[in-house]
Amino acid sequence: MSDSVKFLLDEREMPKTWYNINADLPEPLQPVLHPATKQPVTPDDLAVIFPRAVIEQEMSQERDIEIPGPVRDVYRQWRPSPLYRARRLERALDTPARIYYKYEGVSPAGSHKPNSAIPQAFYNKQEGVKRITTETGAGQWGSSLALAGALFGIEIEIYMVKVSYEQKPYRRALMETFGARCIASPSDLTESGRAILAERPDSRGSLGIAISEAVEMAAKRDDTCYALGSVLNHVLLHQTVIGLEAMKQLEMAGDYPDMVIGCTGGGSNFAGIAFPFLGEQLRGGRAVRCIAVEPSACPTLTKGRFAYDFGDTAHLTPLVKMYTLGSGFMPPGFHAGGLRYHGMAPQISHLAALGYIEPRSYNQLECFAAGIQFAKAEGIVPAPEANHAVRAAIQEAERCRESGTAKTILFNLSGHGHFDMQAYTDYMAGKLKDLVYDESEVAMALAGLPSVN
Ligand SMILES: Cc1ncc(COP(=O)(O)O)c(C=O)c1O
Repeated sequence: MSDSVKFLLDEREMPKTWYNINADLPEPLQPVLHPATKQPVTPDDLAVIFPRAVIEQEMSQERDIEIPGPVRDVYRQWRPSPLYRARRLERALDTPARIYYKYEGVSPAGSHKPNSAIPQAFYNKQEGVKRITTETGAGQWGSSLALAGALFGIEIEIYMVKVSYEQKPYRRALMETFGARCIASPSDLTESGRAILAERPDSRGSLGIAISEAVEMAAKRDDTCYALGSVLNHVLLHQTVIGLEAMKQLEMAGDYPDMVIGCTGGGSNFAGIAFPFLGEQLRGGRAVRCIAVEPSACPTLTKGRFAYDFGDTAHLTPLVKMYTLGSGFMPPGFHAGGLRYHGMAPQISHLAALGYIEPRSYNQLECFAAGIQFAKAEGIVPAPEANHAVRAAIQEAERCRESGTAKTILFNLSGHGHFDMQAYTDYMAGKLKDLVYDESEVAMALAGLPSVN
């Protein structure tokens, strides 16, 4: 076994295809339904807001899907991303476990999100789209799409959840530096935003509301499409470049994970690292525990219901079968803004319902404590979202210490926290609290689930 700290691949070793887990699912996914007819959607239904190439990927059953040359050319700016062995953290924890982390914070936006923003902008450009609307929570996805728009010459309009817009002015500045327009959501520019503001003038927003605003704006104009930063099959597909690289890097290390860990907002970075390994298992290869970590204040996989629901608050999107807290649920304003979503990717939900994924939840204070412990040992300050994965990795390593077993732990460090230092400052000053979600609001939101036969 290698004694290296970093496992680096050459640019030429970057994967040439993404991995589509649909090809290996033990049972097929439930169809996506049209919100009005409740019948399976057709490619034409989706063409109102998405380019054709993206729709094809969304519905594809092909296992390996080619990464286009121009997308690979942009990926090369930061990919292959490094895989680290967390030797100092292992020593600090006095654990026999081997901890590896794939570091996606090396991208220009500071997270995994450009892995999907770049191809989505590319396919839109190929099909003559002039403008893309989107939502953003913490601002990671917004800055990634803003960058992709700058690279491919597309206008980008971003609806940013108001609580994050206020907490993270520098993320907004980054989006604007790349040339995008950034609007606090709910806004008075859309019918969806105005409806929310009429009901709750002090609304601090949610990803569900921001999605409604962005989808509404895309549906209104022929030259405009919409791009989603997580949840859908094509986004998860693009993120598998993470796990495919990690597989090669672990081979260099002479190791293979017993468990793969990722935080889950809509599910894209978790799927990105876990699906290539899970695919091996589904094809009869080595078994691996896949641990999906979410905030206790927005516990979609651990406390939600597996049911058809809308992806947004104003009910403009198709219906997908997923774990959901109800599209009307408003998560409390905790700092991991990218994890404040009522639903979960259908592919992850399906695999969790079949028992292939272990969901787990943590409160924000224990996650910040884990992030600081990690930063002190490894020198990287994780994004608050990524701290959830760090917390789980540390807990598993501590279990290894207690049981004296040397497991191999792989987790995705999905982004750095350089734009989130106010959250760290607040945590260190004792100003952060563990927020509790309102159970009666979830019950109400679940009672409003659409009826599908
Ligand atoms: C650093 C980081 N990690 C994780 C997430 C969660 O998203 P997803 O579940 O799609 O990976 C976000 C979302 O903004 C993020 O910024």
